[in-house]
Order: sequence, then C-alpha cells, then structure tokens
Amino acid sequence: MELKKENLLIVDDNFDMLEVLHRNLKAMNFHAFKASTVTEALNILLYTPIDLIITDLQMPGGSGLELLDYVNKNNPGLPSLIITGFPSIESAMQASRLGAQDYLTKPFTNQELKKAVSNILARQHKSPKEKVSKVSKVNSYAGMVGNSKAFENLIDMIERVKNNRATVLITGESGTGKELVARAIHYSGAFAADPFVAVNCAAIPESLIESELFGYVKGAFSGADQTRKGLFESANGGTIFLDEIGTMPHNVQSRLLRVLQEKEIRKIGAQNSDKINLRIIAATNENLPMLITQQKFREDLYYRLNVVALQTVPLRHRKVDIPLLVNAFLKKYGKEYGKPHIAIGEEALDLLVSYSWPGNVRELENAVQRMIIMGNDAIGVNEVNFLQDNIRHDSIENDLLPLQDVEREYILKVLAAVGNNKTKAAEILQINRKTLAAKLGQKL
Ligand SMILES: Nc1ncnc2c1ncn2[C@@H]1O[C@H](COP(=O)(O)OP(=O)(O)OP(=O)(O)O)[C@@H](O)[C@H]1O
Ligand SMILES: [Mg+2]
Repeated sequence: MELKKENLLIVDDNFDMLEVLHRNLKAMNFHAFKASTVTEALNILLYTPIDLIITDLQMPGGSGLELLDYVNKNNPGLPSLIITGFPSIESAMQASRLGAQDYLTKPFTNQELKKAVSNILARQHKSPKEKVSKVSKVNSYAGMVGNSKAFENLIDMIERVKNNRATVLITGESGTGKELVARAIHYSGAFAADPFVAVNCAAIPESLIESELFGYVKGAFSGADQTRKGLFESANGGTIFLDEIGTMPHNVQSRLLRVLQEKEIRKIGAQNSDKINLRIIAATNENLPMLITQQKFREDLYYRLNVVALQTVPLRHRKVDIPLLVNAFLKKYGKEYGKPHIAIGEEALDLLVSYSWPGNVRELENAVQRMIIMGNDAIGVNEVNFLQDNIRHDSIENDLLPLQDVEREYILKVLAAVGNNKTKAAEILQINRKTLAAKLGQKL
C-alpha cells in the first residue's frame, strides 16, 4: 500500500461529518486530523505541519472564513478546500479571496472529495526547482537569508515588533534560527543601542538560575558576600532573550510571571523591588501547551509570554530557501577556508534540496562547511554523496520511536488541542477515559 504523507486537517462542527471525512481520507492513505471548532483547528495548526485544510464555513464560535483569514496571515500558501451545506456566492468569493483552492457543496460523493483533494495537492507538488525560480522581494535581512513565503512572513513580523517592547515567544525546531530572529528583532529595532542579554535557561544549573536572573543582596544566602546585579537588571532598557524557556524551573517561572505583570524585579533577599523597562523574548523548541498539560509549565506564564507568537518554519517545509542558504554559506565559509571562489554544481544542489534536514539550517550550515573542506573549486555530487553517511537525510530511522512513546506523544498532542479536556480527548481517540488515564500512567 502506498503511504501518502500529507497531513490533512478537517474542520467541521458536525461530528458525523467529521467521522465520515476522516474515515474516507484515511482510506485514501492520508493522515487526517479532526477539529470541531476553529479554536481546535488553530491549536492543531500551531504544532502540526498541515498540508491541506478542509473546512466547513458556518460553525458556532468562529467561522471557516476566520480560520482562512488566520491561515492567510500565518501560514500563507497552505491550501484549503471549503465544504459547505449553505453555499452563497458571497462566501464563495470571500473564501477564494482568502486563498481557498476549491469548494464542495454538501452532500458530495467520496469520488468528488478524492478528486478535489488530489487536484489541490498535485498543484502544490511542483518540483523544488520550479519553486526556486520564483524569487520574491526579500532575500536577506539582518544576517538572515531566505526567499520563501515563510521567511517573508517572519521578516514582516520582526518589522512589526522591533520598535516596541511587546513580549515575543519564538517557537520552532532546533536549528531553525530562533536565536538569529531574537537578535534581528533587537539589533534592527529602536533599542539596538541598549543591551541584548541572551540567557540559555537550560545551561544554567537549577540552583543558580534564580540568582543569575534576579541578582541578590549581600547576605541573602551563605556565600552572598556582596550585592550582585541579575541579568534582568543588566538588560534593562534593551532586550533579554530567555532561550529554552521550557526548561525553566517552576519557582523561577512564578518569579518571571511577576516580572511580566509588575514590570519590576526584586533581588533575592531584598526588601524592595526595582522598576525595569525591557523587552522579553523567549524561545523554545518544546511544545509548551503539552508541557502545560504535564504541569511542567505555568499556563498563565505561557499566555503572558505569547503576546506575539513567532514561529520559525522547519527547513524541509521551505525548501526554496535551501539554494540561497547554501550560496550564502559558501561565500561565508569559502573565504574562511581560503577558497573564496568555490561554487556548487546544479546536480549537487538538487541533492541538497531533496534532503529533509532534520537539524535544519544549523545542519545545512555544517554540511556546507564540510563540503568546502573536501571540495576543490567546485562542490559536485561526489562531495554530497560523501556527506550522505553523515547527513541524517530523510533518515526515517532517526525519527523512529517505540510505539508506546509515539502513542503517548500523540495523546498529549490531542489533549493540548482540546484544552486538556479528557472526555473530549478520549472521544477523539475513541478510547474510554480509564484507558486514556492508564496510557498516560495516571489514575482516573
Ligand atoms: N535564515 C538564515 N540565514 C542564515 N543563517 C541562518 C538562518 N537561520 C538560521 N541560520 C543559522 O543556523 C544556525 C542555527 O540558528 P539558531 O542558533 O538561531 O537556531 P535555533 O533555532 O536557536 O536552534 P536551537 O533550538 O538548537 O537553539 C546559526 O548558525 C544561524 O546563524
Ligand atoms: Mg537557540
């Protein structure tokens, strides 16, 4: 059986309809995700790479058009198919303005559904080369290069936040450029002359993180023989970048929440607080809603941090950026390794574009460096092939997990998508609540 990898998201408030669509799409070998409200759909979109949205228009609590509007702004290029029982010219026009590719009127046959879905997906699957030739306006920004729609979108968001102090939460897989984005916001913005302080929350031992961040007064604890400024105070006026925020211990999360609410910090052992005025940028490659359901991350803190949400897109979902990045890295490292004129052959570049790069830009950057060291004047297929053993390209093996882990991860994802509503999660998973609790190793 041919396994199609596309992830489809079905949104309909009618459970029977959802079930039927789910069953039919699964029979066509798609992965199908179900959402019965727009909010649920948005939650799924936040953490699942979706290839096509199939949505109803009229739903209580948020219409399909609102969903399309969101997608248009945040996941441009993501195709959608409208299914509606009440077609109106006006909504059809509005949907197509918002990028909907096709329109099916209920009731429709399985054949019609299949045809509409495969047509849309076929249009999406142009060869990477074809897409590469469509160079868009922005190619580089504050040391970042790219020309994908996702890249343009990111730059657009950076432009919107760089001159104000709104709290920003950057999420994305490892190596996708989260830190680069944080630096771009700071150094291209209005407070660039003020300090930028980067803190890797995962690298500071748990016992020290509180005093590092908030500082302490003399005599606050044994060893505190003089008053010390914390990193918040050092960043005052500018930006503090809290990287790997998901690893922050609970007690420090509570303190951070107070900083966000009161805009003041209190040194450990101090009687009074000091006002601070800075921008907080947090970043993580973890799924924070999932950490919330596991009670590892405070929900109130999440909402305080998530004022502006920026997502860095995995490289495999914006392959058009690969040639540009390769050339930028060739230029940069070519000079560094004494081969300023080194170039790459077309075939070799195609191979690099075809890889999935689970380590994202960082992995590509390392690969280019290795190829420069190995190659002479040009990088050819040989150099790329030599890399093959090292590159974790399309390496399904790396993603393989024990069944139990996959199941658990998926259950947590479903729980996150339904706001931790166990009854609803059990319903979606088609298991009873007791089984759900058992699978999570919890008592009901
Ligand atoms: N658009 C880009 N253009 C040029 N270089 C990039 C781009 N995006 C990322 N990089 C480079 O890729 C590497 C990884 O980026 P960065 O450290 O910002 O990723 P990250 O998302 O913070 O990763 P992690 O989660 O592992 O900390 C860096 O060397 C960065 O310079
Ligand atoms: Mg980082």
